[in-house]
Amino acid sequence: MAERKLDKVLGIRTTGIREWKDDNIDYSRYEPTPYKALEILSANYKFRGVNRVVDFGCGRGRVAFYLHNRFHLPVTGIEANCKTYEEALENKAVYRLKAKHIPAPIKFKYGLAQHYKIDKTDNCFYFFNPFTVQIFKKVVNNILSSVEKDPRTVDLIIYYPLPEYKEYLRTTPFNIMNKFKVPGATDNKEKIIIYRLRKEDIEAVTDECINY
Ligand SMILES: C[S@@+](CC[C@H](N)C(=O)[O-])C[C@H]1O[C@@H](n2cnc3c(N)ncnc32)[C@H](O)[C@@H]1O
Repeated sequence: MAERKLDKVLGIRTTGIREWKDDNIDYSRYEPTPYKALEILSANYKFRGVNRVVDFGCGRGRVAFYLHNRFHLPVTGIEANCKTYEEALENKAVYRLKAKHIPAPIKFKYGLAQHYKIDKTDNCFYFFNPFTVQIFKKVVNNILSSVEKDPRTVDLIIYYPLPEYKEYLRTTPFNIMNKFKVPGATDNKEKIIIYRLRKEDIEAVTDECINY
């Protein structure tokens, strides 16, 4: 199986699914982003100008390890499921033996995405359907507050975008920058949409508020 083989190259175990035991309706189950989606994202988006990627609902860490390995970027993963978080740490221990030459940090935090304090160096945020749109709105609002305080260009990478995420983002200052379809996809949601908020647009909105 290709997914297992690619895991092996990175020294990680990220295949499989984990449902929430208590039928948590706000939080999605664990399921990794397929490697073919990460491949198409990497080939097209290239992560130029990215200082740090944050994966909200990082699961066992596949996205974090893949991007760290390919682009040597600092990455942070936030995970709310204790068992899954521990698996991400186990993966990190083995991965780090293989990736000693990459100085960029790779961090995992146990907790809720909506409680994560956005750092001013965070400028690329990854989501693969981690939670309901209500929680997504809180996270996006945290990002907006952070860029208002420390203006910078930020991107949201959304894999398998839900209609309610797209609808909400239409009401925000984010604009679609690019879209990639996953090769061979039969499901229309199997795509990646990149939304961008440019530093100059944040400054224009802030200036308008000052002049008002
Ligand atoms: C569909 S998986 C995506 C995993 C990973 N991002 C990837 O693409 O390979 C969603 C993950 O989000 C986690 N999650 C759900 N709600 C969360 C929350 N409020 N805060 C942090 N993690 C959450 C789940 O436990 C699950 O591991």
